[in-house]
Amino acid sequence: PVLVVDFGAQYAQLIARRVREAQVYSEVVPHTATVAELIARDPAAIVLSGGPSSVYAEDAPQVDPALFEQGVPVFGICYGFQAMAQALGGTVSHTGAREYGRTELGVSSEGGVLHQELPGHHPVWMSHGDSVTAAPEGFAVTASSEGAPVAAFEHVRRRFAGVQYHPEVGHSPHGQEVLRRFLHDIAGIRPQWTTASIVDEQVTRIREQVGTGRAICGLSGGVDSAVAAALVQRAIGDRLTCVFVDHGLLRAGERAQVERDFVAATGVNLVTVDARERFLGALAGVTDPEQKRKIIGREFIRVFEQAAQDLQDKAGAEGERYDFLVQGTLYPDVVESGGGTGAANIKSHHNVGGLPEDLQFALVEPLRALFKDEVRRVGTELGLPETIVQRQPFPGPGLGIRIIGEVTAERLEILRSADAIAREELTSAGLDRDIWQCPVVLLADVRSVGVQGDGRTYGHPVVLRPVSSEDAMTADWTRLPYDVLERISTRITNEVSEVNRVVLDVTSKPPGTIEWE
Ligand code: XMP
Repeated sequence: PVLVVDFGAQYAQLIARRVREAQVYSEVVPHTATVAELIARDPAAIVLSGGPSSVYAEDAPQVDPALFEQGVPVFGICYGFQAMAQALGGTVSHTGAREYGRTELGVSSEGGVLHQELPGHHPVWMSHGDSVTAAPEGFAVTASSEGAPVAAFEHVRRRFAGVQYHPEVGHSPHGQEVLRRFLHDIAGIRPQWTTASIVDEQVTRIREQVGTGRAICGLSGGVDSAVAAALVQRAIGDRLTCVFVDHGLLRAGERAQVERDFVAATGVNLVTVDARERFLGALAGVTDPEQKRKIIGREFIRVFEQAAQDLQDKAGAEGERYDFLVQGTLYPDVVESGGGTGAANIKSHHNVGGLPEDLQFALVEPLRALFKDEVRRVGTELGLPETIVQRQPFPGPGLGIRIIGEVTAERLEILRSADAIAREELTSAGLDRDIWQCPVVLLADVRSVGVQGDGRTYGHPVVLRPVSSEDAMTADWTRLPYDVLERISTRITNEVSEVNRVVLDVTSKPPGTIEWE
């Protein structure tokens, strides 16, 4: 792999993704890894990421000069660029010329390999206080900016290069091209990380791991579990059984989508457990959001566990046991819970239902090395329909946390109808890719007076909560076109008789969360 050394910037994962977009496999490693540890992983190249430190700071993470004696190509970005300059004998100074944000880069007339044939002046994204003022010996300086006399350098023979700016962000429009040239042209790595190669490799691995055994997979209706299941199905066929728990808190058409579309695309064995009554019963009289979440989580585990046990018993009678549990854990979860070293445990909420240990499954995690966009492409490669692959996020507790007040069958029916209309209109306006998600929330304990036809109404409001986001950690409310909002509002109040008012949530996150509970 290409190893992206994380100096504590939020950019390391983004760099790793960009490297993969150049069709080269990459992994994130913490800066505490020693040169010996890095080399032990046989890296095709090493990328030193940006970081918050100044190379002069007392506790600044340093780059061991021995890294440059290994014959491995190295690319430095921002802080990594400066640390590289310093380790190789160049000069880094406090020039007082800080640059933050969009900056004009001037490319030298030769341009070197990195910037060859790019416009002589183009914008890049900078974020630095210190600057490299003299490149190490033997390096060609190929670009500069007002505040960075050495904004890019390269030593093609030794296969070293670096840039002061952030090539990985969208604000550096030629950044991907520069990264690609380092990987392909300077480091000489052949672009082989393609969706087809990911599928082949994972299928081989799953076969090795599972052997002639059987596996079980909980489907949530979301992208990750669906793609994980489809991969395992491709590898071991009908020795995989999927379990889908219908807790009654799903949106219109979701169960059918799993039962019909997913099965049609994969031919997988599917067991659906109808647990609607059980969940409604457990939620009766409950209004507190945290309590709702706890109850839904607890019941989910029980139902899934029971389904797994039933399968196990049935299989046991035939002498075959289910020894493997498939999970859709993604690479960002792996990095965030252990710096990508693979040693630490995964966040508990990613384990389907947080199954108790005594069920004794070995985990199969075929998406453990993948980013979300790669998961979607793998899904498409495996023939899953767009409706599954491009699905927007939907919370595990489902509509249960979108009814403010007690959850009842009638209220679920009202919300399901309103939600279906909003989704239909957003889809037909072509807005699905522009929004992150758009929860529809029923204020079930609120009533307001309205007038419809000749009569007074006294109905419930629903809230539209369209948001734009990169990662759901922060979000902005989406400025939906008024005509789309109007169609949604008119249709909901006309077609859902219990609702007489549609309101728009114009709160960002923070201070609001995306969901209302
Ligand atoms: P909040 O409301 O915290 O939501 O801003 C952030 C994102 O997470 C989703 N969400 C959940 N997903 N289980 C999930 O799988 C949950 O319990 C859960 N709660 C919120 C939410 O839809 C949004 O995308």
